[in-house]
Amino acid sequence: MTVYLVGAGPGAADLLTVRAVRILERAEVVVHDRLVETEVLDLVARGAEVHDVGKTPGGPDNQSAINALLVATARTGRTVVRLKGGDPFLFGRGGEELEALAEAGIDAEVVPGITSAFFAPLAAGIPVTHRGRSCGVAVVTARGCERDPELARLARADLTIVILMGVARRGAIARELIEGGLDPATPVAVVERASTPTERVQRSALGDLGSLRVAAPAVIVVGAVAALDLARGAVAAASAR
Ligand SMILES: C[S@@+](CC[C@H](N)C(=O)[O-])C[C@H]1O[C@@H](n2cnc3c(N)ncnc32)[C@H](O)[C@@H]1O
Repeated sequence: MTVYLVGAGPGAADLLTVRAVRILERAEVVVHDRLVETEVLDLVARGAEVHDVGKTPGGPDNQSAINALLVATARTGRTVVRLKGGDPFLFGRGGEELEALAEAGIDAEVVPGITSAFFAPLAAGIPVTHRGRSCGVAVVTARGCERDPELARLARADLTIVILMGVARRGAIARELIEGGLDPATPVAVVERASTPTERVQRSALGDLGSLRVAAPAVIVVGAVAALDLARGAVAAASAR
């Protein structure tokens, strides 16, 4: 009995790993998240039992029901795939699911996925580290911690900050970072629905982040590199494109 925790990547099916595709093609049960695109689900073996267990932001926490479903379906002896957006171990609660499976005596294998934290900046032509502009990158969530993230302590001009689940708190995020010492003129890029046909990139200054119109899912990139658009070979203007 093995349950496969598979990363579905940011959206586009051709961003899955070959290993993920091979496992989906022989899946008998698939338990998937809300952010998994239809074109990825189309790769699932015909006849497989498919469960959409997506959580609505702010909705009830159904994690224990998901864990119970994984354990129950694995015990039927079928090939069970838990398909998760991006990478299973980055803000995906993959670790909790592994713990639940281990407690039930069920083996699990994790298949990594391309995380939106790195794909979304890349889609906008932003290298998250770049000599002379950024000596490192911090990936943080704006939600889901026991207390508000202390973003202010990450406020360093030479660090790139990539924020997931930050759309609703974008005004507060900007305030915290500016209070922490970042210049309100620090470049910001917001990448919505990266890798999907409706992908959109907006650029602004940190001080204007709160007034951008943004819809989730989106990744917010803060730091000097956010002004770059190397895909276009130019430094982007600090305005929506
Ligand atoms: C619960 S987290 C899961 C992250 C996922 N495990 C990963 O590695 O990408 C969901 C957040 O990921 C980000 N996200 C996921 N897919 C995205 C996409 N295609 N474009 C932009 N942001 C995305 C958003 O910030 C969203 O609120």
